[in-house]
Amino acid sequence: MHTLNPFFLSLLPSLSSAVPSSKPPYKLNSNGIPPFSSLPLNPPAPYLSAWGLYGPKDELGTLNRLTPGIVASASKSEIKTGVRISLNWAMNAQGNESFINRGNFGHKIYPAGPYYDEIWDYNSQLSSHWDSLRHFPYVAERRFYNGVRDQDVIGEVNSTVNGIHVWSEKGIVGRGVLVDFESWRRKQLDKRNPEERFRRFDPFKGETAGISLEDVKAVLKWQGTKVKFGDILIVRSGWTVAFNNKTREEVLALQRSGPISASGLEQSLPMMKFIWENFSAVAGDMPGVEANPSRANFTMHEVMLAGWGCPLGELFDLEALAEEAKRQKRWSFFLTSEVINLPGALASPINALAIF
Ligand SMILES: *[C@@H]1O[C@H](CO)[C@@H](O)[C@H](O)[C@H]1NC(C)=O
Ligand SMILES: *[C@@H]1O[C@H](CO)[C@@H](O)[C@H](O)[C@H]1NC(C)=O
Ligand SMILES: *[C@@H]1O[C@H](CO)[C@@H](O)[C@H](O)[C@H]1NC(C)=O
Ligand SMILES: *[C@@H]1O[C@H](CO)[C@@H](O)[C@H](O)[C@H]1NC(C)=O
Ligand SMILES: *[C@@H]1O[C@H](CO)[C@@H](O)[C@H](O)[C@H]1NC(C)=O
Repeated sequence: MHTLNPFFLSLLPSLSSAVPSSKPPYKLNSNGIPPFSSLPLNPPAPYLSAWGLYGPKDELGTLNRLTPGIVASASKSEIKTGVRISLNWAMNAQGNESFINRGNFGHKIYPAGPYYDEIWDYNSQLSSHWDSLRHFPYVAERRFYNGVRDQDVIGEVNSTVNGIHVWSEKGIVGRGVLVDFESWRRKQLDKRNPEERFRRFDPFKGETAGISLEDVKAVLKWQGTKVKFGDILIVRSGWTVAFNNKTREEVLALQRSGPISASGLEQSLPMMKFIWENFSAVAGDMPGVEANPSRANFTMHEVMLAGWGCPLGELFDLEALAEEAKRQKRWSFFLTSEVINLPGALASPINALAIF
């Protein structure tokens, strides 16, 4: 059991004195969430955080948006053809020395009497995964979602609070929306005078490979995709395409050339507002969802994981998904992802299927 950490408890008296009744000091919008302008909900909790929205012990964060009603409605609107597409990159896709510096997927098969067993030994960041709410804190404050501290993850307490097993109870299931930025970008190159940035976009050079809110909206418009509240946003930046197009030597040379730099969503207040207002989880084909290095004085890992409890999904294999979406001319689908039930785990393979 974990006990409420004193930091978050210390917020409660000031809250109760600021608010005469049990009514929170913000209004919920028609989707039942506070407006972005009310973040942080409970200062002095950190920048843009939503701690306390679902109670001080909540461990689901924005997954609370995936109500049975939203999931049922997604299954009705999205499952039309029965075509299923896996989003799982191979567990060992990065080879024996991962670009992201998370080692190798260890897989050992051995005879265990008249049959065989096997042992897997790997870093949970190595292939397609969801980050849990105990993976990344607000770095300066050293606080995870709802104020959880380092000692709950590793230290004097070692609880399982914010562990991924909590999500495994109901999975991450709902309406998925693919933003196929990479196909859209390539389309821009066919134009007579394409913007230089579309040519320079290199998923392994984060400085050139940011995806702005304007880009996301342009891609949605190009696809004719409408966003619904509670959707799971999935962005294809072209990272795995670029990875697969490199030789082993090129990948390792990049890996050794310095800190990881990669394509992803650009950090900006309008981007954060857009995500807050619409989505229950955000994923992509790149190592970190967000562009690395950050464009702002915060990271999405801090605000989304530690602030909102919003799952970040990384290294998804979106190639077959993009093909099927093009074939059906439909970039929305039913998404089912069941994380592993390992109490206290920091991340999990996604076990994800898109169903059209
Ligand atoms: C990784 O694989 C390469 C090529 O298959 C091999 O030459 C190298 O020795 C391997 N490295 C390790 C640490 O296993
Ligand atoms: C917590 O885990 C760390 C690392 O495994 C260990 O060193 C430490 O002793 C553990 N603390 C408790 C209270 O079990
Ligand atoms: C996101 O949500 C806001 C608030 O509900 C809405 O105004 C906006 O149109 C949504 N964005 C998209 C792309 O649908
Ligand atoms: C693959 O790499 C080659 C050589 O670097 C490059 O010319 C080509 O455009 C790349 N293709 C894709 C799909 O990225
Ligand atoms: C980032 O900068 C803005 C002003 O530009 C400021 O309001 C905000 O508090 C800063 N955030 C962090 C996390 O330092």
